[in-house]
Amino acid sequence: MGRVTFHDPETSPRRAARAEAERRATAAITLPETRMDADEAPSRRDLRSRTSAPGIPRLAAIPLLVRRRIAVAALALVVVASGAVAIGAAVASGQTPTAEPQAAAAIAGPPAVPAEGLPVPVIAEAPAPKSPCDDPAFTSALASGDDGATIAAIGGGEAFRSAVASGIAPCVSLADATRQWVVVNKQRPYDPANYRPNDLVMPNGVRALEDSALRQRAADALSKLVQAAEDAGAGEIGYLSAFRSYETQQKTYAARVSVGGVAEADKESARAGFSEHQSGLAVDIVPCSRSCGTLDDVGGSTQGAWVRDHAWEYGFITRYVDGRIDVTGYEPEPWHLRYIGPELAKAYHDGGYTTLEEFFGLPAAPTY
Ligand code: DAL
Ligand code: ZN
Repeated sequence: MGRVTFHDPETSPRRAARAEAERRATAAITLPETRMDADEAPSRRDLRSRTSAPGIPRLAAIPLLVRRRIAVAALALVVVASGAVAIGAAVASGQTPTAEPQAAAAIAGPPAVPAEGLPVPVIAEAPAPKSPCDDPAFTSALASGDDGATIAAIGGGEAFRSAVASGIAPCVSLADATRQWVVVNKQRPYDPANYRPNDLVMPNGVRALEDSALRQRAADALSKLVQAAEDAGAGEIGYLSAFRSYETQQKTYAARVSVGGVAEADKESARAGFSEHQSGLAVDIVPCSRSCGTLDDVGGSTQGAWVRDHAWEYGFITRYVDGRIDVTGYEPEPWHLRYIGPELAKAYHDGGYTTLEEFFGLPAAPTY
C-alpha cells in the first residue's frame, strides 16, 4: 500500500519543514505492511485498518500534527457535550446551572446561592424600652414633688438623664421651673414669664453681698459647699446675687444694654423671663478674705479652682463654661453656679458634660 502524503497549501516553509520531520518520525514507527495470507488470522492492527471507511487514510499514515489537532478537536467536543448534558440535567432538576464547579467557586468567591435563596434569619423585634412613666413608684415620687426621691426611683442621676434625653420619660418636664432639672435658656423662657419660687431662704453661714435668697435645697447645698471649701483651705466663698425676680432681671439686663448695646449684653445677661436666677437655683459667687472680690476675680482664685473641681459634689454645676457660647449663647461665667441636685450633678460630672442642653439632649440655644 502506498504512503499517503497530505499537502497543506497554507503551510509555510517552516511549518512544512516541521511537518516533514514529523512525517519521517511517524514513518519510522510505522510497521511494515502485513501480507494477508488466507490461513493467517488478522492482527488487531489489521482489523483496525480494515474498519476504515474507503477514502479515509489509515491513522498511522496521518501526520502526528494533524492527529494531535484531531484529538484536541475531539476532546473539545467531548467537553462541550458533557457540559451540555450537565446543564440539561441541572435544569431538569430545577437547579441553576453554574459556569464553574462548586469547588472552584469555593476558592474564587462566595458559594452558589440556592434557587430558593439563603435562609432569612428571623430577628425578633427589640422590645420598646420601658418608660419610667409606666412605673407607679416613679410616677408617685414625681407627683410628690420630691426631686431626689424621683431620681432614686429610676435608679440614679444617669438613669434619669438617659431616660429623659432618649424621650422615654414624657412625664418629666424640663420646663417645670419648680424642679431641679429645669432647663432655662434663650429658647426656653419661664411659663409664666414672671414665675417666682415659693421657698426662698438666705443660706446659713454664707456671706451675702446682696439681700438675695435661694430655694431651700440650693441654699442648704451652698452652705455645705462654702464650709467644705473653707475646710479644704481654699478660702472663703461669698456670693453677690442669687434669686432675681422678673422685674429685677429687667433692670439688670437694661443696665447691661446701656453700657454696650444689645449684642454685647446678650452674651452676658439674660433678658427678663430667660434668666436662671429667676428659678432661685442659680448663684453668683465671689472670693472673699477680709473683703470680697468681684465676679471677675473668681476664675483666678483658689476658691474658683476648688469650685471647678468640687461643686458637683454639692449638686452644683458651672453652667457657662469657656468655649460653649455656641450652645449656651453666653461667654464663660466661672462665678455662675446652677443647682441641679447631687444625683444629676454627679452624672453631669461623670459624663464629662459641659452644657445642660447636651446633658438632656436638647437643641443648642445660642440666640433668642
Ligand atoms: N448672667 C446670666 C446669663 C444671667 O443673666 O442669667
Ligand atoms: Zn449668674
